[in-house]
Amino acid sequence: MDARAVKELVDEWMIPTPPGAYMAGIENRPVIARAEGVAVYDTNGKRYLDFGSGQMAAALGHNHPRYVASVKRSLETISHSTKTFLNVDRLELHRRLGEILTRPLQKSLFLVSGSDAIEAAVDMARKATGGVDVLALNMALHGSTSFVTRSLTFGWNRSRHGLAAPGTSAILAPYAYRSPFGDEPDFVEKCLDLSFEIADSNFTGRPAAVIVEPVLSAGGVVVPPPGYIKALRQRAHDRGMLLIMDESQTGLGKTGRMWGHQHEDIVPDIMTVSKHFGAGLPVSAVCTTPAIAERAVGNGYFATRSHACDPIVCAAGVASIDIIQEEGLVERAAAIGTRVQAELRDMMQEIEAIGDIRGRGVLHGIELVEDRKTKAPANELARAVVQQCQEAGLLLQARGSHGRLNVIRLVPPMTSSDDEIDEGMSTLRKALSTLQKTRRLQAA
Ligand SMILES: Cc1ncc(COP(=O)(O)O)c(C=O)c1O
Repeated sequence: MDARAVKELVDEWMIPTPPGAYMAGIENRPVIARAEGVAVYDTNGKRYLDFGSGQMAAALGHNHPRYVASVKRSLETISHSTKTFLNVDRLELHRRLGEILTRPLQKSLFLVSGSDAIEAAVDMARKATGGVDVLALNMALHGSTSFVTRSLTFGWNRSRHGLAAPGTSAILAPYAYRSPFGDEPDFVEKCLDLSFEIADSNFTGRPAAVIVEPVLSAGGVVVPPPGYIKALRQRAHDRGMLLIMDESQTGLGKTGRMWGHQHEDIVPDIMTVSKHFGAGLPVSAVCTTPAIAERAVGNGYFATRSHACDPIVCAAGVASIDIIQEEGLVERAAAIGTRVQAELRDMMQEIEAIGDIRGRGVLHGIELVEDRKTKAPANELARAVVQQCQEAGLLLQARGSHGRLNVIRLVPPMTSSDDEIDEGMSTLRKALSTLQKTRRLQAA
């Protein structure tokens, strides 16, 4: 598409979108026209490896044939239906999801987006406990709905949104790389002692829940240290609170286990699922135990949306679970993780701007710094890497929190072949080493 025509359309019809981690405005970025597997193509036919998995929701690759077949079948039979009746695909998705949940998690309800699911999970925790206050980590992203989920999204600039929802406050994320006591053996306890000393003084009523991602993805791909989540759950339970796990980005295989919490030797009380749950269509779920469901519903709990239980999205959800199980994608994600981490460790020897590498399964973060000693975040370098990779046919994002946008987030689909992984990693290495050379020349 002609660049001028795109700009005219954007200027005339679109509410402006903030630049985020990109160097160029949205009107100067590629216009996506189609996709096939791990690749997307722009309107000029240029191919890009999609190592952002779309908006983290194309972890099965784009247009998986099995998903396409299910959606087509649904379009030809029934795609939308009243949620006040059951439908065949909805019943099947409850069963299939229930079968792969970690017990005692068993029951689910469906919504549309990840933010919906978090809103509904918070409400469920409040109704099940009779409490109000909800804690989230100060680098977390839990959604963009204008009240509850934004208020629990401390990794963005919360002050931008005016009034925050009552009963929402932050605790310290266990960010070992930047914590003054990140290297200490009792880091987990120190982090939680500080967090709950403040939280206990903040509580306005009875506390209801603490919410956490198994890997803090948008905040900068922070993997909590071993034992942190288990200890967090204990502190929550000591106060009568429930542990909500937001598995939007980590669920359904992405970390190399079916669920991110399976790395932690715990089961959450409530869990949310979204992103590639619909293999490309929007559907999300709140999952919990029969006992918690019964308590919440007994206190008036319900959550729904007009399109939440549509046969078309439920059929897509069933296809997603089929693909993950039949193609062994959980194991494949673990194998991709090993391959990517080995390559990143090697890159770290050569590229001094890499301060830290983190990740699990297909979800990886490369933290870029001006200097390994000062750890000053290299935001501009991260932007340049994203831009250069994009020009070379590789899509990825820069993420972070609190003014830092210096973590290159790499999320190749779980269906990527070794050749595709190697191609993407080689493009990334080239971009990093070219930019490193340019910076050295500028500094000289
Ligand atoms: C961890 C996490 N939770 C919730 C959400 C919100 O999901 P959605 O954009 O589908 O509302 C996101 C979005 O990226 C997310 O990363």
